[in-house]
Amino acid sequence: MNYKAPRGTHDIFGINALGMSLLEQKSKEIFKKYGFEEIRTPIFEDASLFMRSIGHATDIAEKEMYVFEDRKGRKLALRPEGTASLARAFIEHRMDISNPAGKFFYSGEMFRYERPQAGRYRQFHQIGAEYYGNSSPAADAEVIVLAQDLLAAVGIDKINVYINSLGCERCRPFFRKTLIKYFSSAQDLCNDCVRRLENNPLRLLDCKIDADKFIEAPQMADYLCDDCKENFNLVKSLLKSVDCVYTVDGKLARGLDYYTRTVFEIRSDSTSSQDALAAGGRYDNLVKELGGYNTPAVGFALGSERATLAAQSAGLFNNFKEPEKIFIAIADQELFNEAFAFAVKTRNGLSFNKDISVFGPINGKNLTNQLKFADKIQASKTIVFAKTEFENGKVLIKNMKDKTQTEVAISKS
Ligand code: HAM
Repeated sequence: MNYKAPRGTHDIFGINALGMSLLEQKSKEIFKKYGFEEIRTPIFEDASLFMRSIGHATDIAEKEMYVFEDRKGRKLALRPEGTASLARAFIEHRMDISNPAGKFFYSGEMFRYERPQAGRYRQFHQIGAEYYGNSSPAADAEVIVLAQDLLAAVGIDKINVYINSLGCERCRPFFRKTLIKYFSSAQDLCNDCVRRLENNPLRLLDCKIDADKFIEAPQMADYLCDDCKENFNLVKSLLKSVDCVYTVDGKLARGLDYYTRTVFEIRSDSTSSQDALAAGGRYDNLVKELGGYNTPAVGFALGSERATLAAQSAGLFNNFKEPEKIFIAIADQELFNEAFAFAVKTRNGLSFNKDISVFGPINGKNLTNQLKFADKIQASKTIVFAKTEFENGKVLIKNMKDKTQTEVAISKS
């Protein structure tokens, strides 16, 4: 039987692995500038943590979670996102005391049982940040600009930022009622919309199938209370002050229930996909709902696969240079140990920023085959250990391009 990676999962290698590592590395540099510190949470949690946080009536909770029972009958779930896990960790470790700055970032695998398609997987990676304890609109703006900075760090600067306000517990219930009334009179709704009408009417706003029917749908902006209105205006003016270009999208509802006030999505301007590269928003009630103290919070996550693809099409690797490769060969098998020790010593002697990789020696191949292998991996030079030269304290350095060779003295210590 030939095994294949499970549907919706993928092996990441070559240029994609390189791109993703670069994205992770650059994002760490940027998180540091903003004062966010790393946190790693388990890949699985109590299933009910996600149900309560993301909301029972969301796609994720209804049909996309990988839920399983462990041997003791505990109901666990592979994490579909990071926000709920971080809120759980924040409460569990009293991070309001230990980490008063309240700024955390994470990166890792997430799992959602979605219909796989380009840029949509069942196992994917997110890089995200959560900012606790700051209710100021400046925190919302900071997080949006941070997400934008991360994308720009890997060359993705052709983006569109969409923002909206979903109001608070004071103004949203009335908007919800208005929406239910409005949608109830709509004809021929898709199955998802029918299902969500009572429990999650906000999601009908961003339904792709019924979008044409809802052009005139009420918008939250017209129902915001004075506080939410002022708050949203401040977020917008802060974004303007740093030249962050955004579009207010009154239909942006997001697929998770925990949001309050500002929500946002960042989409690529240059690829045809309308899927978000990054998304997030404010969720001031989640920590309290999970048993913690009243703690405002705002955050975002970007999809690493989507961002890596967008970075590649933005030319991230156009000037990419692979490290120079040096191969160590042996003309006489009895010199294997000396060549092996030389390879180790050479690697150890390379400073970290030197872009050189050392390969070999390989046992059991004659010199011709070793040189063929050096050509295959596109080594620039092969260092040959040959008996006569070695006895004179020398090795041969073969230039693999023009095939010239020179003798060079080596230290045997
Ligand atoms: P989300 O919109 O569900 O938000 O996911 C954030 C990003 O993860 C998306 O914009 C997308 O790039 C990526 N993503 C989501 N699902 C998939 C998938 N099936 N395949 C590939 N990429 C995917 C959240 O997860 C929130 N926790 C964000 C947040 C943090 N809000 C506040 N704090």
